[in-house]
Amino acid sequence: MTGVRPGGEGLLDLNAGALAPVADEVNVRQLPVTGILPEGLTGTLVRNGPNPYSGAFSGSGMLDWWPEAAMVHGIRLEQGNALEYANRWVRTRQWAGHFDAADAATRPETNPNVNVIRHAGRDLALAEGGPPVELLPGLDTGPVPAGLEAGITAHPKLDPETGELIWFRSSWAEPCLVYGVSDAGGRVTVEQVIDLPGPAMMHDCAITGRHSLLLDGNVAYDLSLFEKGLRIPIRWFEERTARLGVIPRSGGVVRWFAIEPGFIQHVANAYEDGEDRIVLDAIRYDSFLRLDAASSGFEPNPLGRLWRYDIDLRTGRVGERPLSEQDMEMPRINENRTGRRHRYVYGVLQPTDREMRGIVKVDVETGFVTAHEPPVDDQNSEPVFVPDPARSNAEDGGWLLFCAYRARTDTSDLVILDAQAVDGEAVATVHLPRRIPAGFHGAWLPET
Ligand SMILES: [Fe+2]
Repeated sequence: MTGVRPGGEGLLDLNAGALAPVADEVNVRQLPVTGILPEGLTGTLVRNGPNPYSGAFSGSGMLDWWPEAAMVHGIRLEQGNALEYANRWVRTRQWAGHFDAADAATRPETNPNVNVIRHAGRDLALAEGGPPVELLPGLDTGPVPAGLEAGITAHPKLDPETGELIWFRSSWAEPCLVYGVSDAGGRVTVEQVIDLPGPAMMHDCAITGRHSLLLDGNVAYDLSLFEKGLRIPIRWFEERTARLGVIPRSGGVVRWFAIEPGFIQHVANAYEDGEDRIVLDAIRYDSFLRLDAASSGFEPNPLGRLWRYDIDLRTGRVGERPLSEQDMEMPRINENRTGRRHRYVYGVLQPTDREMRGIVKVDVETGFVTAHEPPVDDQNSEPVFVPDPARSNAEDGGWLLFCAYRARTDTSDLVILDAQAVDGEAVATVHLPRRIPAGFHGAWLPET
């Protein structure tokens, strides 16, 4: 969800520094590189985030940032060369007047500014609540995939073995929660309405080999927030019971497990540990978007921690504990392990609630933590793990790709770390011709 912290209203300069949008679309070929780009990295890193067509955000609060127009940025690498950088707005109906009003009615009605995945041979830009949109070669905007017109989460889970995409759709309108599965060919095979006591804010989900996990925390919709001028009506509800829902992968009865109050924003991974135990590692908050005493804005959020939930399917009890002391967000893993036991979680360090600076690797078996610490003025995106085919026997055999914003020069770089030496020198740095604004999420799309 966030590239920076969704704190109180009116406190951010969205048009300066790492957050500032760009004003046009470009293609630039042959990018300068420091270091040696691994030949095994052939594909495109795509980043997604909000970027108003005007080139400037209109407000100064986090909720003036989230809902803005989707812009995707692609950095194409091929056998040791940094071939091209390109950026494009995703051309959807809401913003049609900015690019071509004539075909507005044929454009998808959504704002897919959150994430990027590849499924069933399609590259998709994903929305918070709306349908995904296919990204065509050159980052051009394609159609909404058939069957997903009603929308899916921006964080579906791709099973690396079956090729299935597991997703949900949550909404403040009925039905408030729908669980779904698309097969490896993109056909929707499961679509099940799930009853909730009220609409919940769900941003991410998890899978194991046999189950899917739904995350029902203390953050939910409150439509009265519209009357206060807020653009997204969600807040912390003390009275809600936080719980984890476990549903068979192919749909069926949901079992709910009570947990301590909190909000899970992003999932690292989940897996089954034997017949009766499910492990979930995720970023958890003690509170999130809690209204201040006057109910006129939000209290500052605490920072997120990597948290482990141990679900005992036999007793119904859930154990929970932090896995590290780092303040961190944007957890990623080697996605060949999605739904299977993992050992390493990568993420972004948060020195303060206004910064994302540094890359962390947590060994969840030993608790050992290593970190890449960039210069104090930098900010950076989440790290995307790309497996190295030559090191496929090791879970961390691969690279971490992230975008660094250099405040001193107001430029961006693509930085490549060896995931087995996160605290070492960068393997390579691609110097980008344009700043890439801090956005939400991204993906590595290998050349096929
Ligand atoms: Fe997210």
